[in-house]
Amino acid sequence: MHEINIAIDGPASSGKSTVAKIIARDFGFIYTDTGAMYRSVTYLALKYQVSFTDEMALVELIKNYPITFKQTEYGQLVFANGQDITKAIREPAVTNNVSEVSAFPSVRAHLVKAQQEIAKPGGVVMDGRDIGTTVLPEAEVKIFLVASARERAKRRYKENQSKGIESDFETLKKEIEQRDYTDSHRNASPLRQAEDAILVDTTGMSIDEVVTAIKSVVKEKKCKG
Ligand code: DC
Repeated sequence: MHEINIAIDGPASSGKSTVAKIIARDFGFIYTDTGAMYRSVTYLALKYQVSFTDEMALVELIKNYPITFKQTEYGQLVFANGQDITKAIREPAVTNNVSEVSAFPSVRAHLVKAQQEIAKPGGVVMDGRDIGTTVLPEAEVKIFLVASARERAKRRYKENQSKGIESDFETLKKEIEQRDYTDSHRNASPLRQAEDAILVDTTGMSIDEVVTAIKSVVKEKKCKG
C-alpha cells in the first residue's frame, strides 16, 4: 500500500518542526525538514565565501555538496557532502541570510526536485513554506500552522533560554516579522496557504493539543483512503 504524505507549512517558529517530528515518530513516517536544506545552502555560501546574490554559484554549491539527512536516536542529522552540519545551520549568521538565498528560483528548483524524490515512496511528513502548494501539491494531508508573532517570539525566547542563549524579546519578534515578510513576498513560491490546507492557529495551544488536532485529520484521511 502506498502511504500518504503529510505537508506542514507555516511561518518561522510556528512550531512546524516540533509537531512534524512527533507526528512522523508516532505514525512511523520519515520526517523531512526542508528549511534545513535552504539553511545548508546558506551555510555553504558563508563557508566558501559565495555571494548571496550569485544565484548560479549557489546552485553550484547544491550540486557539489549534496544535502542528506540521517535519522539517529538523538534526532535528525543534516549532512552536506558527508560533513555533519546539523548545528552549524542553526547559527544566527545562517538564520539571518537564509531568506535571501531561498528567494532564488534556481535554488528552489534544485531543492524542490530533491524534496519530491524523498517523498516519492510516500510515508513522509515534510515541513516548510511551499510543501502544500509546490513541492507536494498532491499530498493527502496539508496543514498550515500559524501563531501570532508575539507568541512565536515568546517560544523562541524560551527555547533560547533553555539552551542558555541570551536574547532580546523585541529583537526576536522583529526578526520573525522580517522573515515572515520576506518569505511571503518573494516571487518564487512565496509562503502561502494551499487552498485545500487545513489552517491551525496554535496561539495559546500546547504542543500536545496541536499534535492531537493534526492526528485526527490524518486518521480521518487514512480511514477514507
Ligand atoms: O523552517 P526554517 O526557519 O528552518 O526555514 C529557513 C528558511 O528557509 C525560511 O526563512 C524560508 C526558507 N524556506 C523556504 O523558502 N521554503 C521551504 N520549503 C522551507 C524553508
